Amino acid sequence: MAAEIEAESAEKLIVNLSPELRRDLRIRAAELGLNLSDATAHALSAWYARPDSPPVEVKGAKSWGTYLPAGGVARFTAECQQRDITKVQGISQAITLWLLASPALSAAARLVSQPVKRILVAIQKGGVGKSFLAGGIAQALAEMGLRVLLIDYDPQGHLTRRLGQAMIPLDTGGSLLDHMLGLARRHIRRSLVVLPQSRFGERLHLLPACTDAFLFDVALSRMRAGREESLARALEPIEADYDVVVLDGPPSLGLAMDIAMHYVHRRPGELADRSGILMPVWPDLPSMEAYDLFDSQRRELMAMTRVEVDELGFVVNAYDGRKGASVQARREEWEQRSAPGVLAVFGDLKEAREAQDRAVPLLEYDPHCELSTGLRALAREVAA
Ligand SMILES: Nc1ncnc2c1ncn2[C@@H]1O[C@H](COP(=O)(O)OP(=O)(O)OP(=O)(O)O)[C@@H](O)[C@H]1O
Ligand SMILES: [Mg+2]
Repeated sequence: MAAEIEAESAEKLIVNLSPELRRDLRIRAAELGLNLSDATAHALSAWYARPDSPPVEVKGAKSWGTYLPAGGVARFTAECQQRDITKVQGISQAITLWLLASPALSAAARLVSQPVKRILVAIQKGGVGKSFLAGGIAQALAEMGLRVLLIDYDPQGHLTRRLGQAMIPLDTGGSLLDHMLGLARRHIRRSLVVLPQSRFGERLHLLPACTDAFLFDVALSRMRAGREESLARALEPIEADYDVVVLDGPPSLGLAMDIAMHYVHRRPGELADRSGILMPVWPDLPSMEAYDLFDSQRRELMAMTRVEVDELGFVVNAYDGRKGASVQARREEWEQRSAPGVLAVFGDLKEAREAQDRAVPLLEYDPHCELSTGLRALAREVAA
């Protein structure tokens, strides 16, 4: 998380906050065209002027973090001490007041126009639920009324097949790689499939995988110039048709991943944490180690290409508390992280596998199961 003020002498504020307030703050800030850190700073200054702020409910608060201008953390801590309240109570009061005082704008009256939102679902660890999450969130976003382009960026094509669709045949000149290499023989729109389920209102479009993507790294490494921009260039002719682009990332840390990360970097004028990477993880040690490696690749890419690639947050997936204390402890460890924090925890539930085996989108297969409901809540948050 790297907001505008982080660049200067910003300090990280780490407090507990309920998921509901966190979500509402994020949504309202985006509606008003504010970075989260700026919205928090506004909320705190209004709260400092209101020593009589009423207490609010803080149940279920989890670790959360944002950046404040220099001196902001000490001021907040001192103010809580003086009012003899906990920090979670203090920040919750401030945000509640701010939400009440800052009415939502209608979509038509949004202050800033923003580029298409781009979400890369990725981590290099295999089998943690990247395709499940990318497909699920794309379905939920389309169901909400947004126009969604879902890209199967993984040569295995799991996502394509699980949605009941066919891979793009080799040598048709219509694969994503063909478009990235500038070798395509047809408009990219002709490679898209509209998912037929009526709940998506023809708003969910899939760019299926093609096995040529197994050669991604080799083919792209031969490109003499403009490699980083190759995905943005390929998608440019259709981006304006969508509100959100969701990419199902590959289980590797190669060039394909670099290019996908670069695609979701913060564009000029784009709000912080609006586009970026959503990371599914398991409540175990290998997932934590995988994340450290992944994060170092992201940092290196940012340093070498001088862009900001935001992390939207973690999704702890396939959690089963019955698997013992160690699994429970790892979940808690993930949940103690802030900036990026955990946006959702999904259980290890049979509907994910059943929908996949029947090649039916999960939200269609069982619209009311816990996973579908959780995906909708997550989609509302990341749609902001
Ligand atoms: N919350 C869940 N509950 C139960 N099963 C799940 C859940 N999430 C994912 N799965 C199942 O776990 C398996 C791996 O998930 P998925 O294919 O989404 O992972 P992945 O990270 O995309 O894997 P790969 O690295 O191969 O691309 C699949 O069979 C999927 O249906
Ligand atoms: Mg996958």
